[in-house]
Amino acid sequence: MNKISKLVEEGYNKIAEDYYSHRNLNKFNNELGEFASLLPENAHVLDVGCGAGIPTAKYLTERGIKVTGIDLSDTMLNLARDNLPSTKFIKMDMNELEFNENTFEGIISIFALFHVPKVKHLDIFKKFFEILKPGGILMINTGVSESEGTSRFFGVPMFWSNFNPRTTLDLVKKAGFSIISEAVLERGGEYQYWVFGKKLRTKVGWI
Ligand SMILES: C[S@@+](CC[C@H](N)C(=O)[O-])C[C@H]1O[C@@H](n2cnc3c(N)ncnc32)[C@H](O)[C@@H]1O
Repeated sequence: MNKISKLVEEGYNKIAEDYYSHRNLNKFNNELGEFASLLPENAHVLDVGCGAGIPTAKYLTERGIKVTGIDLSDTMLNLARDNLPSTKFIKMDMNELEFNENTFEGIISIFALFHVPKVKHLDIFKKFFEILKPGGILMINTGVSESEGTSRFFGVPMFWSNFNPRTTLDLVKKAGFSIISEAVLERGGEYQYWVFGKKLRTKVGWI
């Protein structure tokens, strides 16, 4: 695991409960609803940086969607397992995703990519593309201003990293995705950049 992932992991292990007690858990229900509506029946979704499983994994599983969550932080993963005992949560770094090609109908990563160095974002989007099935749906969000560095978050050092929306969009496209929609949205007093993509292209051509 790289040094940044270690710092993020140690940070969230300390602040997981505090972070969740301060979350407005319904603030992006519209986006979760849109994502769910784009999935086929019996979809299997990967939740990347799943945190405590609420709201994302909970929202999706309540609608009959199978979810696998991955996260760096054991404390977050244990909260997720307590919250959703029937859902699979695995300790895994999104920089080192260990899933086969064409595994998931959907991938969702909310408030998590901004903890990964910018230089890694394209490789992660490419891996998302690879492990999605043809027709698979991607939903991500990032911050809105280009930045990278460490600041204190709930009393611990935390790493943050964002491209500007235009560059994030270019990278998602470069990884192979067709864009369904993208926008800067205000949710719960914060602005984030949201992208919905679709895997319409495979190694042999368009589907
Ligand atoms: C701000 S929290 C958001 C959690 C959840 N997605 C939500 O919306 O509540 C960020 C989460 O991403 C996880 N995370 C950060 N970097 C990660 C990485 N490289 N691989 C996997 N998880 C990561 C953190 O441990 C933390 O649980």
